[in-house]
Amino acid sequence: MDRRDLVRSLRLVGSRNGWPAVRAAWRRRRIDARDLPARGAERARVPGAAYSAEPLPGGGVVRFAQSSLRVRVAVGGAVFCGWDGAAPEPSYALAGECPEADTRAVLEPDKDGWRVVSERITVVVFRHGAVEFRTPGGVPLRRELPPRWWDGSGRVSRWVQRARTPADAVVFGLGGRASGPRLATGAYRLWNTDPCAPFGPGDDPLYITMPVQFVVADGGCHLVFHDNTWDGWVCLRDGEEGAGSGHDQPGGCEVRFEGGPLRYWVMAGSPGRVLGTWTALTGRPALPPRWALGYQHARWGFGSAQEVRRVAAGYRERGMPVSALHLDIDHFDGHRVFTVDREAFPELPLLAEELREDGIQLVSIVDPAVKAEPGSAVYDSGTAADAFVRDALGQVVRGLVWPGETVFPDFTEPRVRRWWGGLYAERLEQGFAGFWHDMNEPTSFTVFARYGESTLPDSARHGMEGRGGDHREAHNVYGLAMARAGYEALRELRPDRRPFLFSRSGWAGMQRYGGTWSGDVATGWPGLRASLALVLGLGLCGVPYSGPDVGGFHAMPSPELYVRWWQLSAYLPFFRTHSAIEGGRREPWEFGPQAEECVRVALAERVRLLPYLYTLAHLAQRTGAPYVRPLWWHDPEDRRLRACGDAFLLGDALLVAPVVEQGATTRTVRLPPGRWYDAATGAVHRGPGQVLLAAPLDRTPVLVRAGAVLPVAVEDGIGLEVWAPAAGQSGEGVLISDEGDGWDQPRVERFASRWRDGAVVVEREGADEVGHPVRVRGLAHNPS
Ligand code: GLC
Repeated sequence: MDRRDLVRSLRLVGSRNGWPAVRAAWRRRRIDARDLPARGAERARVPGAAYSAEPLPGGGVVRFAQSSLRVRVAVGGAVFCGWDGAAPEPSYALAGECPEADTRAVLEPDKDGWRVVSERITVVVFRHGAVEFRTPGGVPLRRELPPRWWDGSGRVSRWVQRARTPADAVVFGLGGRASGPRLATGAYRLWNTDPCAPFGPGDDPLYITMPVQFVVADGGCHLVFHDNTWDGWVCLRDGEEGAGSGHDQPGGCEVRFEGGPLRYWVMAGSPGRVLGTWTALTGRPALPPRWALGYQHARWGFGSAQEVRRVAAGYRERGMPVSALHLDIDHFDGHRVFTVDREAFPELPLLAEELREDGIQLVSIVDPAVKAEPGSAVYDSGTAADAFVRDALGQVVRGLVWPGETVFPDFTEPRVRRWWGGLYAERLEQGFAGFWHDMNEPTSFTVFARYGESTLPDSARHGMEGRGGDHREAHNVYGLAMARAGYEALRELRPDRRPFLFSRSGWAGMQRYGGTWSGDVATGWPGLRASLALVLGLGLCGVPYSGPDVGGFHAMPSPELYVRWWQLSAYLPFFRTHSAIEGGRREPWEFGPQAEECVRVALAERVRLLPYLYTLAHLAQRTGAPYVRPLWWHDPEDRRLRACGDAFLLGDALLVAPVVEQGATTRTVRLPPGRWYDAATGAVHRGPGQVLLAAPLDRTPVLVRAGAVLPVAVEDGIGLEVWAPAAGQSGEGVLISDEGDGWDQPRVERFASRWRDGAVVVEREGADEVGHPVRVRGLAHNPS
């Protein structure tokens, strides 16, 4: 046991129920020892030589001595590869039906074997089972070597597949990785994990893992998704890390799974095109209600309705708009989900009403684990509905979470999702407007890593949509299926509103139901840096709405750290302060007058940018493009931009360079090509290149792209802030607006900016009038 493990274990024993956790861990081990099928003898296998090929819609099938490979290009351009007869469905990742085959793509003989030519990718299948993906111009994107299987008993095969990528390729994604956004050479596990302690950049895996790699190289970008929910590993080798050392090696990866099908999807093109294809396949991101883009405040340990009122009043008195307050498990009766501590929170609906009148929504935490307690309503109705996960002998599996001994709904069973969904009616009656799914890896406390992981036994049984399976297969989609249950219920219970739901754990496709947050990020500068890595990485996996616990989860940040965290988060989609029960307060006025003033400035800018952020939310829903994008978004071939993980583009118009180093009052920023204005001073900078910007404590360096038309809040509605285009150039912007909730078609307005007769003018597409007040900026540096 290493030191970190020991420290965590002691923490768990201390804070998470001590000896009951030892008992729960022991019980988990015993069940697995009894019920988990022994691995037994395994037989290794490779595909062997190909002996025939048959064209089928969208591609075809190649038969090898010991396996077969189906290649199928889908309408939209994603290529599916399935070995051993694996089909695209059933899949937890796909949104609805698998897209039709693109019948223009056909398997045909090639000098090396066979090839399938499609609009964006050419696939070459070699005679011994290697598969290469190339751009239409013939540049290799990745080459998969023949896979290898170990066939065991019970039809479970482990497998490994190695791939080579170009020497300059870098990888992003794999879900939420604190060490990112660019993933260094190393091994990354695919197993959703509650680190059970505040985490920093060195902690891996975390709550959301996904077999999704976003690969960027000079020759082109692609995304590869291994559609397999089992426990696995991705070992990456960053080709560039070795560059110049005399060991010029190509980049590469090895993907291993403990079971489940060997099937994967590959899609290629510009970053925007790749995410468009990916979210067409797995679902477009849910559009949050407008209030979910405002600043939100959570606290584990409000403790009472009075305290909630006190905090709300504090914000009101200081003129700091807060759009939602989040109630954690301390508002439950004895930590029991779907209950209320009526002494501390009498008349919750009244409190909700009162806050709503002030423009504040109430959000409720929802944990999946149900206290195992006959006589309590949720437990009894779940028992009657046969909703809880059982072991192989049919006994309901027990674990240990906040309320004590608990049982776990099996969300992979449609009827259980419906039962669970019905419980949200109680939350709506209490006045809650949004939902915060937590502990859904799922987590069950344990002690000492050698007693097993903090989750259900591997052998626990799950419905798996009627197919039946065990926790090894269900674990990674538990949070995703819980999000589905909540989302579908809210659509039914409150059909005229858009659900607002975010979930700590999840998997590929979770964006269909909502967003996520960092989880328990450690208070400290490394935690601040990890916060941005998570948001950027998740965005490239198709999950655009996320953000950290501002200030860090577990300890009191210094005023400087608190301010810098605020300043970063004011530009992230999900903007919420939160802290642990022992982590101290996060209200801005707790950090002294200077910090309060800095926060006020950051909050005012957030409010001003809301029309822009809301437009980005709509764009994410329409195209899959995340609000927060890496600097290389439009220039993936720029290696220096690919190396930058500490700044980002917010939409197309803004480049945000947060301060993430203690004591820094300046910072360097690498610029993508083009002309950029410093939003604070109006100074002009030209990219590509690097600039040094002033970053005193009251300011986050933000640059604006020349020509940008930025929708911003002005006194009586929405105005346009236009940044002068470079001479002879034009610029553009879009505003998408709606009622803030509901399902009505939004209004889309497109604008162009250009120089005319020595002045900057803005025009609205298809209209004579711009229809919004316009303010032109950047003129000082553009003498007409
Ligand atoms: C978990 C969550 C955290 C929450 C706490 C109590 O640690 O990640 O956000 O405050 O549980 O519910």
